[in-house]
Amino acid sequence: MKVNMIENRSIEVDLGDRSYEIVIAERSRDDFGAFARRSLERSWGGRGCKRCLIVTDRNVSQLAGPFEDSLLRVGVEANRIELNPGESTKSLAAVSEVLDRLVELKADRHFAIVALGGGVIGDLAGFAAAIYARGVPLIMIPTSLLAQVDSSVGGKTGVNHPQVKNIIGAFHQPAGVWIDVETLTKLPDRELAAGAAEVVKYGLIRDLNLFEFMEFNASRLYRRDRSVLERIVYQSCSIKAEVVAGDEREQGGAREILNFGHTIGHAIEAVAGYDGRVLHGEAVSLGMIAETRLAESLGWINSQIGDRLERLLDNLGLPTAIKDLEFERIIEAMRRDKKNRDGRIRFILPRSIGEVEGIDLDEIGLIRVAVERLQGSI
Ligand SMILES: NC(=O)c1ccc[n+]([C@@H]2O[C@H](COP(=O)([O-])OP(=O)(O)OC[C@H]3O[C@@H](n4cnc5c(N)ncnc54)[C@H](O)[C@@H]3O)[C@@H](O)[C@H]2O)c1
Ligand SMILES: [Zn+2]
Repeated sequence: MKVNMIENRSIEVDLGDRSYEIVIAERSRDDFGAFARRSLERSWGGRGCKRCLIVTDRNVSQLAGPFEDSLLRVGVEANRIELNPGESTKSLAAVSEVLDRLVELKADRHFAIVALGGGVIGDLAGFAAAIYARGVPLIMIPTSLLAQVDSSVGGKTGVNHPQVKNIIGAFHQPAGVWIDVETLTKLPDRELAAGAAEVVKYGLIRDLNLFEFMEFNASRLYRRDRSVLERIVYQSCSIKAEVVAGDEREQGGAREILNFGHTIGHAIEAVAGYDGRVLHGEAVSLGMIAETRLAESLGWINSQIGDRLERLLDNLGLPTAIKDLEFERIIEAMRRDKKNRDGRIRFILPRSIGEVEGIDLDEIGLIRVAVERLQGSI
């Protein structure tokens, strides 16, 4: 399949007076300053912004220099805080560190926060931006594929409670999102694959072309082929932006299609324990397979779709099977899902590649078979 350089590099997320722009950057980082200025000027808080705090982690901080220079050229002085990498940083303690720094810098409501990093940094810095002075402007520069295609879009920010993931949070829309796929050069392959799982998800829920594109371009993706990366980031962000614009605060139900693969995926992740043994995207890979098999057992689709999905995920280096599956604990975790209704478990299941539908299920037997099949090929 031929890959054309995308012409359109900008996506407007339409949220009335909280609308913002996602830009897929061309090579030069010099334009970042101009983009940041333009984005900030759209909101009261960002107007006249002269200072910002770049929140980043130690794996990513070497990317910060050119962004800082670029900001300086548009009259924004950048300070920097470097946190430890990893999920354990997504804590109130780390938010507290960021807030301490903002107070020390005497930040006011026109002071911006720039999140430079993966989803952990984006969620945490976004939450600090949501609560400091009841909300300061936020610019996102996502640097992992997962953050570029998923977490930087949608306005969900937050941190983990020691016992419950993502339970502390707020909606806070960014002023702008700047995506430069060049930043993925040093992202470990395993993290790249985890992000690719979400791209496959977008294909399956909304876009057969994107799904096919992933089927044809797995190896080019791993070579960090710029046009392939730009295309999948653009398509993914377009889909997520369209979905979240229709359901900004996750109250209307439109966002729920993004949960395909996540009912079982989240449960697997919870049972595995968030210690890096199973990454979120890897759990989603397993969840998508099991949920597709579940749709198959309900008679919604034929087995070819599941086979094709497994082949694609396997090709992308994602897990398609898991050892030592503790089914009872997985079911227990699924039952705790806040999206359930009347004791039944809520699923988003495929009707075809590109179309999904929600269903509440209490057929534990069917769910068990679909989940236990994940052990099958080991
Ligand atoms: N807000 C949302 O809507 C949303 C959606 C999905 C996921 N999330 C959250 O996102 C988090 C996961 O995000 P993630 O997968 O990006 O994790 P992450 O931020 O921990 O990044 C993964 C690893 O890659 C490193 N890294 C990031 N960019 C790099 C680069 N360019 N070069 C080298 N190393 C780099 C990080 O330091 C880290 O070690 C989870 O906490 C999840 O809950 C949020
Ligand atoms: Zn996800």
